[in-house]
Amino acid sequence: MIIAPSLLSANFLKLSAEIRCVEMAGAGQLHLDVMDGQYVPNLTFGPVIVKAVRTATQLPLDVHLMIEHAEKWIDPFINAGADMIAVHPESLYHPHLTLTEINDKGKKAGIAINPGLSLAYIEDLLPFVDYIIVMSVNPGWGGQSFINGSFERVNQVRELCAKVDRPITIEIDGGMNTERITPAKTAGVDVAVAGSAIFGAEDPGRVVRDMLRTSEA
Ligand code: DX5
Ligand code: ZN
Repeated sequence: MIIAPSLLSANFLKLSAEIRCVEMAGAGQLHLDVMDGQYVPNLTFGPVIVKAVRTATQLPLDVHLMIEHAEKWIDPFINAGADMIAVHPESLYHPHLTLTEINDKGKKAGIAINPGLSLAYIEDLLPFVDYIIVMSVNPGWGGQSFINGSFERVNQVRELCAKVDRPITIEIDGGMNTERITPAKTAGVDVAVAGSAIFGAEDPGRVVRDMLRTSEA
């Protein structure tokens, strides 16, 4: 399993040290939560921070867009150094167009699905995605409680993905901690995103190592 620390809970005054710490501990990618105060109430950061992070690491940068008109922001985030871009399909008039644009520009295209969103909504988009972020909280903030039933959703998503002739990676995002790594693995999660559990700890590197060890057990 890949552990993907979410920088939302990192100390932005010492971002490069935070990144180095989780990278040395074995994090496999970094998760960057972009919020616009519209699609979600909270406001975070844009391409400037992604560009700065790009200079600090070789790890793949997974940019999770929680914004309206995500289609207007694909180029700026690619230019800033994103390797993967995930959109919330119900926020777009033309999700297929945006996903194929991300792919055509050589980056991995993802869809993030909120708790309660019908999976029928994403079924026809699966042939056009490289990864799915199953949201185990409602998007907007770090540090929220994991919504029970999210691993069952991962199972359902995995079954849908099996019908598609394309490898699709499944991420889980929200309320993840070391204790939830084993059930995540059982459910077929490939990438565990975690923010507060990692950066809220005294030793973020240790949490990453614990998560990795648990996933390998
Ligand atoms: C929530 C974000 C998550 C968040 C996860 O809107 O998409 O990536 O940072 O944070 P934790 O792990 O603290 O729930
Ligand atoms: Zn996220």
